[in-house]
Amino acid sequence: MRLERFASKEDLYARAVDIIVNAKNEGATTFGLATGGTMEPLYAEICETNIDFTNCISFNLDEYVGLSAKHEQSYAFYMYKHLFHHKPFEKSYLPNGIADNPTEEAARYESLLQQHSLDFQLLGIGQNGHIGFNEPGTSFDSLTHLVTLEESTRQANARFFDSIDEVPTQAFTMGIQSIMRAKSILLIAVGEDKRDVLERVLASKFTEEIPASILMKHPNVTILTDLQKGENVQ
Ligand code: GLP
Repeated sequence: MRLERFASKEDLYARAVDIIVNAKNEGATTFGLATGGTMEPLYAEICETNIDFTNCISFNLDEYVGLSAKHEQSYAFYMYKHLFHHKPFEKSYLPNGIADNPTEEAARYESLLQQHSLDFQLLGIGQNGHIGFNEPGTSFDSLTHLVTLEESTRQANARFFDSIDEVPTQAFTMGIQSIMRAKSILLIAVGEDKRDVLERVLASKFTEEIPASILMKHPNVTILTDLQKGENVQ
């Protein structure tokens, strides 16, 4: 695991763009993508570059159940708005939040993922240690599945909705095993509200209660943070 700390968010996101450009230059064609507030500045930066993803495939980590791609808070809409509209991929996959049969949809998505192995996976992190929407307690062996969101996750994401009542209660997410199959992983943890969880992840105690703790076992993971050493982060 490589941990890189930045004094400014500007420098952090510039480094993240470099890592993605380098991955692509080194032959990565299949990218796992993430959503959330953390990724908005990154996608804005990427849109300013001349990187071309038109020969690449993307897979998003997760999608809310019950929201169609036209819903402004769906992750499909988010991706179109922040990235795909400006930087299209040859093909972009997300779970279908309004699939009739959730079990079949999770299996369909996992099967697609297994057909196209991920060269690169981008990750944010939830305050409870979730990656994608793999909440604490999720098996490290999990594949793409339907999850019931923790109340704390719904509250953390309520800022994107008009009220908490509108935040979906369920989501599809790649599993931990699906994520860990990626050849390289970039996790970005920005802001004070990620301090506790980053400290817990860096402590390298592997526990399903902290889903992101498994990343310390991945052979090629980089963590970028703006949290400085000496403030309780190792
Ligand atoms: C969300 C997403 C995650 C994201 C995380 C952090 O719920 N499902 O993929 O990484 O929580 O989000 P944010 O960047 O807004 O803090």
